[in-house]
Amino acid sequence: MRIHQARLNKTSIATAALALLALGLLYGLGACEKSPQGPVPSLAKVYADYFPIGAAVDPQTLVSQRDLILSQVNSFTAENDMKWENIHPRPGNDPSSYDFTAADTIVNFAMSHGIRVRGHNFVWYQQVPSWVFVDGRSPATRAEVLERMKEHIDTLLAHFKGKVYCWDVVNEALSDDPSETWRTNSPWYYYAGADTGHYGMPDYVELAFADARAADPSVKLFYNDYNIESGAKFQHALDLVRRLKAKGLIDGVGIQGHWSIYWPDADTVRNAIDSFAALGVQVQITELDLSVFRYGDLSTLQAPSPDLLQLQAEAYGRLFKVFRDEAKAGKLTGVTFWGIADDHTWLDDFPVAGRKDWPLLFDVQHRPKPAFWAVAKW
Ligand code: G3I
Repeated sequence: MRIHQARLNKTSIATAALALLALGLLYGLGACEKSPQGPVPSLAKVYADYFPIGAAVDPQTLVSQRDLILSQVNSFTAENDMKWENIHPRPGNDPSSYDFTAADTIVNFAMSHGIRVRGHNFVWYQQVPSWVFVDGRSPATRAEVLERMKEHIDTLLAHFKGKVYCWDVVNEALSDDPSETWRTNSPWYYYAGADTGHYGMPDYVELAFADARAADPSVKLFYNDYNIESGAKFQHALDLVRRLKAKGLIDGVGIQGHWSIYWPDADTVRNAIDSFAALGVQVQITELDLSVFRYGDLSTLQAPSPDLLQLQAEAYGRLFKVFRDEAKAGKLTGVTFWGIADDHTWLDDFPVAGRKDWPLLFDVQHRPKPAFWAVAKW
């Protein structure tokens, strides 16, 4: 009898556990953290039929935000650790010129948890060391700069082969000034920005994509930039992507998405995704965050008011409705947040150094904000 009861108990416990598991799977529960609104679902699971949910990470946040990262996302971007100045700080192209420590920490963490990795980035006007552009005491020649760029791209693609599925090959090559196309305050533009091959773009842009394509044809190649969803920069980005696509050198465009709770409107974003997708490339939102400050507002706040948090929830909700629609139409293949919780955001130092901002879905204590619920439940 006792044995029978014990068996019965075991059976009922197992049945209950299975039922809970099934419920969890049904509702996309991740770590099953509790909040006043109930269990906190995993966005990666909620959005499994739409697109991967990404976050920018670094080795420190993999520790400080570990639970949130593991429960919420299934795609990583290295916030800084694959950028030239960090990964290739010293002149030359032998192993001693590179430092893969931090990037490998991120990639190994990702691989051991089944998380995909976007590569960010090969060629950018920021975070590139000055040695790339000098030769002894003289400025480097165009040929030297382009050779170094090729070596850098080849080495990174070989190092991360099979581990990083796509790369932002060129980041932010377009100007913010509507009267000009190309960003001119870039050492890349200065040293290799001529259009010597009639490519309709600076040499370094086309050659970076061509180098990457030749080095690893299996990796998806992206152009990544901000404010390319409207205005002249949108038109310039469309032209660039069209030309690269005609040469078979590009697979996707990254719309960064450093926006605010006031801007842009959802139709603008929908139109941009439609327009890029119509060129036959993937579209991803690669660096999403919504500042609580209007563009140009340099004032400070002690804490976001409930009204601001509500506006933020509505803005995120509108955008994710567009993202879901576009994903279902086959036009959007990824959404990455530039961080995950408000305790770590680059906006705490931009545009005002040291000013706190609250742009993400989780608060500084890793609790879901109203914006999280607007994205997770619709
Ligand atoms: O690594 C040093 C550290 O040693 C030092 O103690 C510390 C003191 O300030 O600075 C650290 O470097 C900072 C680095 O982030 C790592 O935290 C740099 O000063 C700081 O400029 C750098 O900012 C990064 C920024 O790119 C560089 O312009 C941000 O974290 C990063 O979020 C941001 O990311 C960019 C994307 O790559 C491209 N799109 C725009 C986006 C936001 O600017």
